[in-house]
Formats: sequence, C-alpha cells, structure tokens
Amino acid sequence: MRHSRILGVGRHLPERVVTNAVLGTMMDTTDEWIQQRTGIRMRRYSDDGVGAADMGADAAQQALRAAGLAAGDLDCIIFATLSPDVDMPASACLLQHRLGIGGMPAFDVRNQCSGFIYGLAIADMFIKAGTYEHVLVVGAEVHSTGIDLTTRGREVAVIFGDGAGAVVLGPEPDERRGILSTHLHAEGRFAEKLWLECPSTRLRPRVTEELITGDEARIFPKMDGRYVFRHAVTRFPEVIREALDANGLALTDLSLLIPHQANLRISQMVAQALELAEDQVFNNIDRYGNTTAASIPIALSEALDAGRIHDGAVVCLASFGAGFTWASALMRW
Ligand code: UT7
Repeated sequence: MRHSRILGVGRHLPERVVTNAVLGTMMDTTDEWIQQRTGIRMRRYSDDGVGAADMGADAAQQALRAAGLAAGDLDCIIFATLSPDVDMPASACLLQHRLGIGGMPAFDVRNQCSGFIYGLAIADMFIKAGTYEHVLVVGAEVHSTGIDLTTRGREVAVIFGDGAGAVVLGPEPDERRGILSTHLHAEGRFAEKLWLECPSTRLRPRVTEELITGDEARIFPKMDGRYVFRHAVTRFPEVIREALDANGLALTDLSLLIPHQANLRISQMVAQALELAEDQVFNNIDRYGNTTAASIPIALSEALDAGRIHDGAVVCLASFGAGFTWASALMRW
C-alpha cells in the first residue's frame, strides 16, 4: 500500500506579542510564576476581526508554495480547531473560500490539542486508500478572544496563545518513508477536567447575560491543571512508545520528537521518562504559549526552517489534551 508524506509546511503567527509582564497588568500574575510553571515568556494575540480561518489560510498558502502546488490541486481540506470562526459552518469551508477554491470536501476536526494529529491521520487514510492525492491539514486557533483575562481566569489565560500551522500531504510510493503510522486515543470520562461549557445546546437559551458576567463565567474554558498535567506526563510517553513499537523502532532511532506544546515542564518530564537527549525534542512554547491544534504544525514548520529535520529523519508528533484525547504520528522524512 502506498504511504502519504508531508510535501509542504507553513505557519502564521500574529504580529502582536503579549509578554508575561503585559498579562501582569491585567491580572494577579508574574513573569516569574509563568516562566517557572510553564516555560512561557510570551505569546501572540490576533488582531480584532481575524479568525482561525484567516490565519489558517495564510499558513496553508505557505504550505502549498513549499509543496510546489496550487490551491486548485487540493482534493480535500481538514481543519483542526477548538476556536472556529463561527459555530457553523466549518472553518474549513471559510478557509476554502479564502483560498479561492471550491468543490472538494472541507470539514473541521474538533479535538483540541490532538486535533492536528487526528486530522493528519484522516488525511493519511484518504491518501493510503487512494481516495485523494493532495490533502491540506490545518491547525489554527484564536484563544485570545475567548479566555478570561482577569485574575479569576489566570490559570488558563496565561497558557494560551493564537497561531496557525498547515501541511499539505501527498502520496509516497516508498513504504519505508512518509507517515509510517498514526495512533489515536480518547477518554471521554475526563471531559469536564478541561472544557468550555457555554454556549451549550443543553441550555435554553444557549447563552445568557448571567453565563457571561456571573461569578462562574461559564463562557470561559475551565481546567483542573494539576489533573491534566498528571495524565499528560503518562499518556505522552505511552503513545510515543506505541508509535515506535508499531514500527519496530527504538527511542534511539528517534531523530526528533515534536510534542504538542502544552507546558515546557510536561515536555521535559516526557523527555526524561523516555531518556531522550535534549536535541531529540523540539520546544518553542517560550515564544508562543500553548496554541492547541496549531502548536504541532507551527513547531514542525520551525523545526524544518532550523534544519532540525534531515532527509531520512524519524520524526514523532505527539499530543495530549482536552477530551481527554491523545495521539501520535510517526514518519520518516
Ligand atoms: O494543552 C493541553 C492541556 N493543558 C495542559 O496540559 C496544562 C496542564 N497543566 C499545567 O500546565 C499546570 O497545571 C498549570 C500551568 C496550569 C498550573 O501550574 P501548577 O504548577 O499545576 O500550579 P497549580 O495549579 O498547582 O497552582 C499553584 C498556585 C496556586 O496558588 P495556591 O493555591 O498554591 O495558593 C494557584 O492559585 O499558583 C496559583 N496560580 C497562579 N499564580 C500566579 C495559578 N495560576 C497562576 C498564575 N499566576 N497565572
């Protein structure tokens, strides 16, 4: 069976840099606390009026250029986001229109930090099955308009940032190269450990003034940070080992691990648990914070630009996040 491989990668980071010191003027937090607990020094916030599809379209155009393809060459568009431009239709449809194309399928994957790998897995299956030749997978998020930028929301607010990344996949005839395998998991009983409850179809009406301004502020994401942390440091190593085992490879074969950028301490603990060398793990959370579905394609794009991925490199992408969901994808470049 043919494989799929990544033909081109792109990223879009909004220009507005928000340092920890700036957040300290909005809420009771400090640069020291944020750096010590998360490794984040700054993040980017989008401009007003800019949605996930706008940023995703820019990243997609770069990925297409890198792949040497035109937008019209795409057979399918998959858009991973937890912050779609609007409730409906899918941001994938908005992005398709922005790219000036139409006709091919376009849909969203709503799987938070694991959304990009879920999207990649679907794209890989479509290409392996011979259904499509060129599939665009985008991860894009605008968090800054949806977080509680007061002391009440500080545990969540200081972590998240905005950004977008994209890859274009195409067929790879050599079975030893391209995407070797993908591994997807979910455990819905932990849904409320990290969730955004409103607007909700369970409520009539779905959102009210009280839900927005009341003490509970249920329109903002809520997280049991320590609980999520504990699960993350277990699931990441598990799903990385699962990918290597499935391909008869060892941790020493791994050229580069690109983990979802959730918290620098999580990545460091994962690296320690797997006894990975510093140069085997890519981190850029210090500059962008946690951009959920966008973090892996942004990191992949930067790793390529930095010359960290050579021809034949074994690269593992891995994620953990709300749902809970976790996933990995192993590829030989
Ligand atoms: O994207 C995938 C899903 N998300 C994650 O993977 C995130 C996982 N969790 C984490 O990264 C960490 O749990 C956090 C960074 C969210 C929090 O770090 P922590 O070391 O677990 O801190 P904590 O929640 O145990 O809070 C420690 C203290 C508390 O004060 P007390 O109770 O000790 O007095 C918090 O109120 O720090 C306080 N605190 C803050 N202080 C200053 C919480 N947030 C802040 C803040 N600034 N932003």
